[in-house]
Amino acid sequence: MSQNAFDWAQWRLRRLDEFEWALDQALSLQAPEALLAPMRYAALDGGKRMRPLLLMAAAEAVTGLDTEAMSAAQRQAVLQAACALECVHVYSLMHDDLPCMDDDDLRRGRPTTHVQFGEAMAMLAGDALQTLAFELLSADLPGVRASTQVAWVSRLAQAAGAVGMCGGQAVDLSAVGQRLDQTALEAMHAAKTGALLRAALVMGAEAVQAQASALELLDVVGRDLGLAFQVIDDVLDATADTVTLGKTAGKDAANDKPTYVSLLGVDAARSYAHALADRALAALRAGGLVHAPALQALAEQVVRRSH
Ligand code: IPE
Ligand code: IPE
Ligand code: MG
Ligand code: MG
Ligand code: MG
Repeated sequence: MSQNAFDWAQWRLRRLDEFEWALDQALSLQAPEALLAPMRYAALDGGKRMRPLLLMAAAEAVTGLDTEAMSAAQRQAVLQAACALECVHVYSLMHDDLPCMDDDDLRRGRPTTHVQFGEAMAMLAGDALQTLAFELLSADLPGVRASTQVAWVSRLAQAAGAVGMCGGQAVDLSAVGQRLDQTALEAMHAAKTGALLRAALVMGAEAVQAQASALELLDVVGRDLGLAFQVIDDVLDATADTVTLGKTAGKDAANDKPTYVSLLGVDAARSYAHALADRALAALRAGGLVHAPALQALAEQVVRRSH
């Protein structure tokens, strides 16, 4: 990878190609069609794939190698972890959209999974995507140390569970109609959304046996980017339109959710997200990773995205 020649659009397309193929393979299961259809519907052909791209970019930043230039074993490890993380993310979206949670009927520009397949199948497909994630992380992967796989499992379980995504979602639902102060809001956002993005960076680094110093750096960068991502999600909910978002705009206000927009207003919320991303970028630049142009471009995307 040459520093000057970095082409973000090209990088993104190539990584998406690799990732979409790997996820399709991971979801080619001998499972009952009634379950497999909603799993594949929710997971394939949609989404920005921000978490897998961050995971791949982190692995590249640590090694200085494009995924295409990595050994077959390293590349498989990176893609397997990326698929696992996306499976958990997709499950979280399916459950987030259920009538008992945010009650949304549009996701990634299509009817939500429960609208298409019914609530019971959406619930089960989410459950099965979650367990598939841990099956992928613990599968036989030549060249990957068992200690790395245990670290992945533990990290993803914590990021997705009671002190991570599920915990944050529980606070989100309990806080409907309330005003949270910035400390409480930050804790909620860091848990419900930040934790999985943060895990993306560290799991990518773990896939390529990064040193402890790189893991620590990426953890710090991931914490800021993860929070910034949800602050911008709040901003977009209030400012973008439904077609651009591929999900119903204005849902947070309609559901009376405490958000960075309801607390600070659109402009201050956006500025705060940019400040977080700037801090992440400064840490990345100072951090001595081998070569991180893709990660830097993604950090900018977190706050500059239109959907
Ligand atoms: C939406 O996530 C839900 C949040 C956790 C903020 P994304 O904005 O990454 O959704 P997709 O994966 O691109 O559809
Ligand atoms: C989602 O937060 C967090 C998840 C863990 C899925 P939101 O409820 O704001 O996500 P969207 O806006 O529906 O995608
Ligand atoms: Mg929600
Ligand atoms: Mg929602
Ligand atoms: Mg939202």
